[in-house]
Amino acid sequence: MALKKIREILDGCCLADQTIQIRGWVYRKREGKELIFLVLRDSTGVIQCTVKKNSSAWSDAQKVTIESSLTLEGVAHEDKRAPGGYEVSTESINITGLAETFPIGKDKSEEFIRDMRHLWLRSRKMNLVMKVRNQVFESAREYFNSQKYTEVSPPMFISAAVEGGSTLFGLKYFDQQLYLTQSSQLYLEILMFSLEKVFCIAPSFRAEKSRTIRHLTEYWHMEGEWPFADMNDLMAFEEGLMTHICQSVSEKCEKEFAELGADINKLKAVKAPFPKITYKEAIERLKPKNPALDWGADLGYEDEKVLAEEFGQPFFVYDYPTEIKAFYCKTYQDHPEIAMSVDMMVPRIGEISTGGAREDNKEILIERMKAQGLNPQDYEWYLDLRRYGTVPHAGFGMGVERLIVWMLDLDNIIDAIPFPRTTRRFYP
Ligand code: 4AD
Ligand code: MG
Repeated sequence: MALKKIREILDGCCLADQTIQIRGWVYRKREGKELIFLVLRDSTGVIQCTVKKNSSAWSDAQKVTIESSLTLEGVAHEDKRAPGGYEVSTESINITGLAETFPIGKDKSEEFIRDMRHLWLRSRKMNLVMKVRNQVFESAREYFNSQKYTEVSPPMFISAAVEGGSTLFGLKYFDQQLYLTQSSQLYLEILMFSLEKVFCIAPSFRAEKSRTIRHLTEYWHMEGEWPFADMNDLMAFEEGLMTHICQSVSEKCEKEFAELGADINKLKAVKAPFPKITYKEAIERLKPKNPALDWGADLGYEDEKVLAEEFGQPFFVYDYPTEIKAFYCKTYQDHPEIAMSVDMMVPRIGEISTGGAREDNKEILIERMKAQGLNPQDYEWYLDLRRYGTVPHAGFGMGVERLIVWMLDLDNIIDAIPFPRTTRRFYP
């Protein structure tokens, strides 16, 4: 007998006179006197199955509960009234795992559902988000590979901060103090000297107390680094990557976007080049709405949102004050107060990536470390990269979950990752 995925049936490829088999879980159940409706789910979709009172499947259909696993045999046929346009007339049911009363129901609070993450991941919403997430990874890799970047594997245990101490997670490593990486950038810089164009998609960790729709303590970070690149090369690469991801996801995830009720046209509209403004221009634009904002201040979430609303699409803000940027940022020779740093921003979320040119001069780098209260001895290996064959180079890091939150217009970043970690959430 033909074992079918639900998607195949919904795509109309099962003949009306052929008995088929579906393996799945009971998603919904409605019981009438003469008819039981079972909605089954598998990884590919959901389909309505009917069981008639006189069929041999009746007693099993009565017995099954929500989330019971089973193999169902029946005949598929088109039915305009059924969700998805197809229905299965059930001939037999073989219960694999009879489920206890499923804790997640209609009347449950958001808090409760979050505590039940291990079960909530079976929901249609999470199933669809995870598929879009998978496509984002695939499309990103496709682009990096097409541009001849080599994917590398950086470490997560590290011995010195990348992005400053305030968001650094410390941990006891046998008898020593180590940290969880905030970014793989410095390790990509090492590998760049061997492989030239490199990238990674790996976790980054931030001891971030902010409770916003855009902060996690563990997130996936897509980072690239390459030699002989300047700010223009960097922005051109980032907008090329973003355009490819948006176009490719819009082509391959049409069904997921439709079922999630997300606007796919927003992705289709993403095309390089993106608007670009300097930090200085950003401050001038924001000044009327936020008079306290002066040159030198970091842009807050609210400022970024206001700017992003004006653009209504991905755009860049570049040339930030050196003082608010990390020690590794390269500065302009005749304007050391300005750093070659660039953020990509999108509506509602604000910043989704930060990148820039890296300081390639050893002496200036040491000065910058000292100015930020860092001990150059903690970064000896990083300084070696400037000692032995230094080159101008640039790179960036994009938060994968921030990208997904924006793409799907999710309420919160926690739904862009299967097991969200926040200040309060680390279970399961
Ligand atoms: O702006 P950040 O801190 O830049 C860096 O880490 C650079 N070293 C990257 C590089 O040049 N290779 O972080 C980069 C991006 C942010 O723009 C944001 O999208 C994401 O990482 N990000 C977070 N995403 C979710 N939760 C958090 N707490 C995040 N912190 C940063
Ligand atoms: Mg940043």
